[in-house]
Amino acid sequence: MGVMPRTTLQERDFDVEFRAVTKKFGLVTAVDDVSFSILKGSFHSFLGPSGCGKTSSLRLIGGFEQPDAGEILVNNKSVVGVPPYRRQVNMVFQHYALFPHMDVATNVGYGLRQQRPRLSNKEIQQRVGDALALVRLSGYDRRRTWELSGGQQQRVALARALINKPTVLLLDEPLAALDRKLRKDMQVELKTLQREVGITFVFVTHDQEEALSMSDHIAVMRDGRIVQEGSPTELYHYPLDRYVAGFIGQSNFIAGKVIETGNQVAIRTPEGVVLRAPPSPKAKPLLPGESAVLALRPERIQLSTPEEKLPRVYPGYIAQSTFLGDQTEYHIRTETAEGSGVGALMVRTSSANSHFAPGEPVHLSWEENSGLVLLDD
Ligand SMILES: Nc1ncnc2c1ncn2[C@@H]1O[C@H](COP(=O)(O)OP(=O)(O)OP(=O)(O)O)[C@@H](O)[C@H]1O
Ligand SMILES: [Mg+2]
Repeated sequence: MGVMPRTTLQERDFDVEFRAVTKKFGLVTAVDDVSFSILKGSFHSFLGPSGCGKTSSLRLIGGFEQPDAGEILVNNKSVVGVPPYRRQVNMVFQHYALFPHMDVATNVGYGLRQQRPRLSNKEIQQRVGDALALVRLSGYDRRRTWELSGGQQQRVALARALINKPTVLLLDEPLAALDRKLRKDMQVELKTLQREVGITFVFVTHDQEEALSMSDHIAVMRDGRIVQEGSPTELYHYPLDRYVAGFIGQSNFIAGKVIETGNQVAIRTPEGVVLRAPPSPKAKPLLPGESAVLALRPERIQLSTPEEKLPRVYPGYIAQSTFLGDQTEYHIRTETAEGSGVGALMVRTSSANSHFAPGEPVHLSWEENSGLVLLDD
């Protein structure tokens, strides 16, 4: 491809950029040589387990931490050494704190009242009103923080961060404290809000469902590094390795050793069963002898009764069934003649056409191209 004129593109399209950024805390490398760019106006998520460096990355963007190495750009300018209040960035912290002795309007207007030269009371009032309307809390101005539900407090924290009209809003697990129902509602509201105001949201979560449903782009992190990034559908359908496949959606993994490579990869399980599926299109080629897994989404597996006699099946029995409304989730134990088999598999089928009871013998099957063979790390 040669050298692309990348800089002209960057200047137009990116709000935040990391170039080989490293941040250490003593012996811990919280962010390890990370590079990424965040598109203007996008909903960008960092997803990963506890301790993988999500908050540290956000704090570096916000200017609450300084990198040990690398360069950080906000609005195409290096911000190394620029304090938080001089960046066009605002952050909603993981453990958001409202000022308890202030009412809602005073909390929301706090940032505006710090501005010099001073804004008129009329303008502050106007903008507080607008910010509260944006988070659907008009009329709550005089409420005290303890008179609000968790979700309402969360929205006050959002309004407080939005009022300065940042070009980038950093959100560190802003929905973690909410119950499931409220969380779902807030996910929709946040996404709608982001579309309405058009600013870039950088969102941190360890909840894959949340990341999948809200984001334009997800970066999956592990031990201070980004292991894969892409759109939710890309990550769901083409995970690079077992870690990402296990983190994005649910998968069954059948482990084996690679015996053939190419457009189809064949693995042999410890029981001697040979399974074939394509490799992940973007992963580096697997080599014979490497440890790999066949990753199979639960909904790609079909269940049949032993009487149906379909070709290429695994025998097993229903260990547990869970009714999920539109679907039923089955946990299956499989046993080959040798007694071990592929172990436990999870299967999801539409509730309408499945009716297997615990203990019942079943046959499992899947189309040869349903899964992916991934590096087992
Ligand atoms: N101020 C600090 N001093 C020392 N170590 C820190 C500090 N902040 C973070 N760390 C360490 O850096 C690593 C990354 O922490 P970080 O807070 O970024 O993780 P996280 O992905 O946000 O996790 P969580 O999901 O639990 O919030 C962890 O090992 C953590 O213990
Ligand atoms: Mg964190």
